Amino acid sequence: MTTTGTPTGTTTGTVTGASTGLSESLIATLSGHHYTDAGIFRLEQEHIFESMWFCAARSSELAKPGAFRTVDVGRESVLLTRSRDHTVRAFFNVCRHRGAKLCTQESGEVKRAFQCPYHAWTYDLQGKLVAAPNLTKMPDIGRTAYGLMPVAVREWLGYVWVCLAEDPPSFEEQVIGDVVARLGDTEAIDRYDIADLEIGRRIVYDVRANWKLIVENFMECYHCATIHPELTEVLPEFADGYAAQYFVGHGAAFSPEAKGFTVDGSEGLDRIPTVAEEQDRRYYALTVKPQVFINLVPDHVIFHRMFPLAVDRTVVECDWLYLKDVVDSGRDISRSVELFDRVNRQDFDACERCQPAMSSRLYAKGGVLVPSEHHIGDFHTWVNGRLGMR
Ligand code: FES
Ligand SMILES: [Fe+2]
Repeated sequence: MTTTGTPTGTTTGTVTGASTGLSESLIATLSGHHYTDAGIFRLEQEHIFESMWFCAARSSELAKPGAFRTVDVGRESVLLTRSRDHTVRAFFNVCRHRGAKLCTQESGEVKRAFQCPYHAWTYDLQGKLVAAPNLTKMPDIGRTAYGLMPVAVREWLGYVWVCLAEDPPSFEEQVIGDVVARLGDTEAIDRYDIADLEIGRRIVYDVRANWKLIVENFMECYHCATIHPELTEVLPEFADGYAAQYFVGHGAAFSPEAKGFTVDGSEGLDRIPTVAEEQDRRYYALTVKPQVFINLVPDHVIFHRMFPLAVDRTVVECDWLYLKDVVDSGRDISRSVELFDRVNRQDFDACERCQPAMSSRLYAKGGVLVPSEHHIGDFHTWVNGRLGMR
């Protein structure tokens, strides 16, 4: 795994026991080729990442008109920008002339238009074709018809979500529905005021593992006692192997000895004032399918977005979000960041350790899930359902 900092950061079909001869306690996982087969990954790109709402960027990366960010969503490059009316726009990052990639930088700012580096077709921030060599001599070229192709876009929790489907699914059902299924209601997440928090640190992890291994790992805590000594110190119940995600609405209580959610249990930062009393000194983890993990603690939010780039490679952008005053004051957030940075590295190392074995003949039929991991079987059923497989 390699990691990099970014401009905003300072560092860089489930089969059950009876039919397989497994004991009651065990459920089969997906078979190994689901994690190595380029054909399956292509189906996932098409039926999952290019069909569902996909969390692409932090809204603050598009702070003013002309600021842009490009992201890979499935097999497509998507250009995000903010137009003069301050709304966020998303387009296929493909020039309508002869298909050159319009914007080759990951982020930046243009004054008022995007110009294709090939023949200089130029598009305004709303995507309209506004200039091209000899354009006035070709009056029949529709400025909107040959404008950039728009992509559906929503802002929620201070993030920009896009959907490449021609007929996008309901955002409320797909995205907000996952949050409600985990927490019981939306109020529980609204109280963290995530849209108004600021990025204190962003770390980008380049993980040599299939995206599903990363989701599965995040969904269970059977591994916590083995690989997360710092986390189980702060959240002792995690040592029992039952993840906070296992129960609707449950948050794991901090150890009485922990002053805050930090690598050494020392005091955290200022508590988000709207967090409820019953949420204080608790940790909540959520998975928003297909590629977001959210971690809530009283003084910050850790927000992961996965970018599955290949069957065996996933880039994870992780933001640590704090109150604006905390970030502006330059207070030391390093012990706070270090706890989950270590957790991430421990998790991603484990995923990278599994990836090569996915092509082992021993794993051709997959492995097994113990009872505290059985909910991962629902994820496998969901993936297979999206792909039209049993
Ligand atoms: S491909 Fe973009 S201007 Fe020709
Ligand atoms: Fe973990």
